[in-house]
Amino acid sequence: MAEPLILALDQGTTSTRAVVFDRHGAALAEASRPLKQHYPADGWVEHDADEIFAESVEAMREAIARCGRPAEDVAAIGITNQRETVVVWDKATGRPIHKAIVWQDRRTEDVCARLRGEGLEPEITRRTGLLLDPYFSGTKLAWLLDRVEGARARAERGELLAGTIDTWLVWKLTGGARHVTDATNASRTLLFDLRAGDWSEEMLRVFGVPRAVLPQVVDCAGEGFGETAPELFGRAIPIRGAAGDQQAALMGQGCVRPGEMKATYGTGCFLLVNTGEAAPVSGARLLTTVAARVGGRTTYALEGSIFVAGAAIQWLCEGLGVDSPANAEQLAQAAREGHGVMMVPAFTGLGAPWWDAGARGAITGLTRDAGLAEISQAAFDACAWQTLDLIEAMRSDAPAAFGPDVELRIDGGMSRSAWFAQRLADLTGVSVCRASYLETTALGAALFAGLGAGIYGSMEEAAKARPTTDHARPAWGTRERGAGYERWRAAVQRVRSA
Ligand code: G3P
Repeated sequence: MAEPLILALDQGTTSTRAVVFDRHGAALAEASRPLKQHYPADGWVEHDADEIFAESVEAMREAIARCGRPAEDVAAIGITNQRETVVVWDKATGRPIHKAIVWQDRRTEDVCARLRGEGLEPEITRRTGLLLDPYFSGTKLAWLLDRVEGARARAERGELLAGTIDTWLVWKLTGGARHVTDATNASRTLLFDLRAGDWSEEMLRVFGVPRAVLPQVVDCAGEGFGETAPELFGRAIPIRGAAGDQQAALMGQGCVRPGEMKATYGTGCFLLVNTGEAAPVSGARLLTTVAARVGGRTTYALEGSIFVAGAAIQWLCEGLGVDSPANAEQLAQAAREGHGVMMVPAFTGLGAPWWDAGARGAITGLTRDAGLAEISQAAFDACAWQTLDLIEAMRSDAPAAFGPDVELRIDGGMSRSAWFAQRLADLTGVSVCRASYLETTALGAALFAGLGAGIYGSMEEAAKARPTTDHARPAWGTRERGAGYERWRAAVQRVRSA
């Protein structure tokens, strides 16, 4: 019998990627497709859900074809997805009633402000682990039901179905046989009771969402997702795993024990630390989220997001005329020592732990001899200082999870740079491990699917397939780091709106 293959589908915000893995985590073939973005109004972001499905199938077919092995060898499919984005569709026809509302969309800001004004945020946070922010699915889903003509009445009659992108893809891939979501995606909706592990009647009431439209919540690995309709790939392939993309990356980085953490540096940065079976209530405005649910056992994570990471480097190129990100890095490396320039790239406000939508960016500490090199270094450093803000917040929320030998596993575009990894270690004081294979999100989805298909016996066994890493150890002394961090905090204070 041929070695089983696992097909991972990573449906992201700007592209859809399919990767075929073997059981050891080696990527054998890949295919990817861009996804069109729709911006119908200021602050609104939408996707075409039919396009998402069609491109997902195409990417999966192409990856299988490129791998040169028959679809019969694919033992399982694992799905991972942009989280929080919401689709509502007609149960009978399978047609979406509106474009999907993307996680970045801010249209429900007013609803969140009203609920905050009513003093509901503490109870919502306690129950769901999240904050009252338009980022999450709940208010977006209510918007669709209220603003699309007749939708609410149809939903109450049981004619409509709703879900995040995992739910939509599984429903379409199974020919409408399964309407399910995994616990990690459910934990991003504001509708899910984090500790009870199911939809919260109270939250459904607060956000005005009828239970009838929601999927059943299942484990991240197992038989809950059914199998693909045979006509899609020439045979039915079991779907055996699903998880939101950051949780999948946590798995792909092998962070299955308390204290293990990963950061993905893309446009922004998502940092998650595994807190085991404890679901701490954050005192530092971090999110508490489901890390994984496997075999009915739920583990949790604290999550912090930085809105601008790689986007700061992109801005050096697009806004200041630096040739390329590689050139920005060369400039940064050539910066004068001790220049004191700080950049706070709060282009669209500040994320965790500040959550200040009104903050705007600044460059501080400019002197006559400061130039592009110093500003470039300050942009890279801003990614590191923001990471340290999150690590400090996590340390105060979950001290037990942070041992003395804590390390940060990194992936995403910026982690290609060994220089950045070293800078990150120096500024944060934490050892940084750079993954040799960067598609850890897709790998994590494959590992969940492998668990669901019985290819791996446990999360720990699956975690052995994580990529090898190199280590950057902090070279700066505590005093040097402390002084730099103080200047960073002062710069942040100067840009805050309140
Ligand atoms: O929470 C949003 C996140 O899941 C989106 O990730 O990689 O598609 O931008 P990405």
